[in-house]
Amino acid sequence: MIYSKITGTGSYLPEQILTNADLEEMVDTSDDWIRSRTGIEKRHVARNDETTCDLAEKASRAAMEAAKKNKDDIDLIIVATTTPDLIFPSTACLLQQRLGIRGCPAFDIQAVCTGFVYALHVADLFIKTGNSKCALIVGSETMTRIVDWKDRNTCVLFGDGAGAVILEESKRPGILSTHIHADGAYQELLSVPAGISSDYNLVKSDKAFIKMQGNEVFKVAVNTLGSIVDETLRSNSMSSNEIDWLVPHQANTRIISAMAKKLDMPMDRVVVTVDKHGNTSAASIPLALDVAIQDGRIKENDTLLLPAFGGGFTWGSVLLKY
Ligand code: UT7
Repeated sequence: MIYSKITGTGSYLPEQILTNADLEEMVDTSDDWIRSRTGIEKRHVARNDETTCDLAEKASRAAMEAAKKNKDDIDLIIVATTTPDLIFPSTACLLQQRLGIRGCPAFDIQAVCTGFVYALHVADLFIKTGNSKCALIVGSETMTRIVDWKDRNTCVLFGDGAGAVILEESKRPGILSTHIHADGAYQELLSVPAGISSDYNLVKSDKAFIKMQGNEVFKVAVNTLGSIVDETLRSNSMSSNEIDWLVPHQANTRIISAMAKKLDMPMDRVVVTVDKHGNTSAASIPLALDVAIQDGRIKENDTLLLPAFGGGFTWGSVLLKY
C-alpha cells in the first residue's frame, strides 16, 4: 500500500501587523467586540508590492528545507488560493518559475477556505496512483486585498499569510483519509460578487470586496464542521479520543470551540492561531500546522484532524499521521 506523508512544513507571515486598536481608528468597532466575537487580536497584512506568490515562495522554501528537498525532487505543485497574483498564469506556475522547477504539473485550486484540504486530497490521489512521489502543496492568500476597509462586518476578520507542506510517497501512513464536499446554493451568504466575466468593472475600480452574512455563515459552518468530523471518524472507525490534535480552519474561536466541544476534546489539544493571524482562508490550516510543529506540540506519529469550511460553500477534512 502506498501512502502520502507530510515530511516538511513551512510558513510565512508578512511583517506588517494590523491590531484591533488600529482597526478602532478605521471603523466603528472595538477591541472588546472583535476579541469576544471572533477571538482575533491582530492579523498580518502584505505590503502593496508583496503578492500571494511572494508569500508562497517563502513558505515553500521553508517546507523544502524542512523536508531536505531540492528543486529537482519536486514533481507536483498545487497552490490553494482565492487571491491569485494574476488571472493567468496560475500562482502555482509563477511559484514553479520562482523555485527554478521545470516540467512538473503545477496548478491552482480555488475552494476558498477549504482550498488546502482540497489540495491535500488531490495530491494524496496523485501519490497513491503513482503520479507523484514528492509534491509541494501550498495555501497562500492576500485576503486583505479583497477586504472593504469601510465594512466593519468583514474588515476585522481577515489576514494574509502562507503555509506549505511537502507530501511524499511513503510505505506507512501518512494521510489516512480525505473528505471533500461542496454546495453551491449559498453564494448569497458569502462571496466576492465581481469577476472576469461578470461585474468586471468592480475589479477594475478596485471594488471587488468580500460580502458576508456572518451570522448565517456561522450557523452553517458550525453544523457542517460537526458533520464532517463525524464523517471522518466514522469512515476510519475511530473515536475522538484517538485524535491527538485538531488543526481546524481558523475563522473564529467560537466556531473552533464549538467543534472541540462536539468532539469532547479539551482546547489544549486544539491548535488555535486565529488570535494572531485572523482568517487567512486557504493558508490558515498549513500556517497553524507549521506553528504547532515548530513549537514542538505536534510530534511524529501524532494523529491530526484538519477540518475546513469556506465560501462555495465548500467543506472537507483530512485525517493523517504526522
Ligand atoms: O472562513 C469561513 C467563512 N467565514 C466564517 O466562518 C465566519 C462566520 N461568521 C462569524 O465568524 C461571525 O458571524 C462574525 C464574527 C462575522 C460576526 O459575529 P456575530 O456574533 O455573528 O455578529 P452579528 O453579525 O450577528 O452582528 C451582531 C452585532 C450587529 O449589530 P446589531 O445589529 O446587533 O446592532 C453588527 O452590526 O454586531 C455588529 N457588528 C460589529 N460591532 C462592532 C458587526 N461587526 C462589528 C464590528 N464591531 N466589527
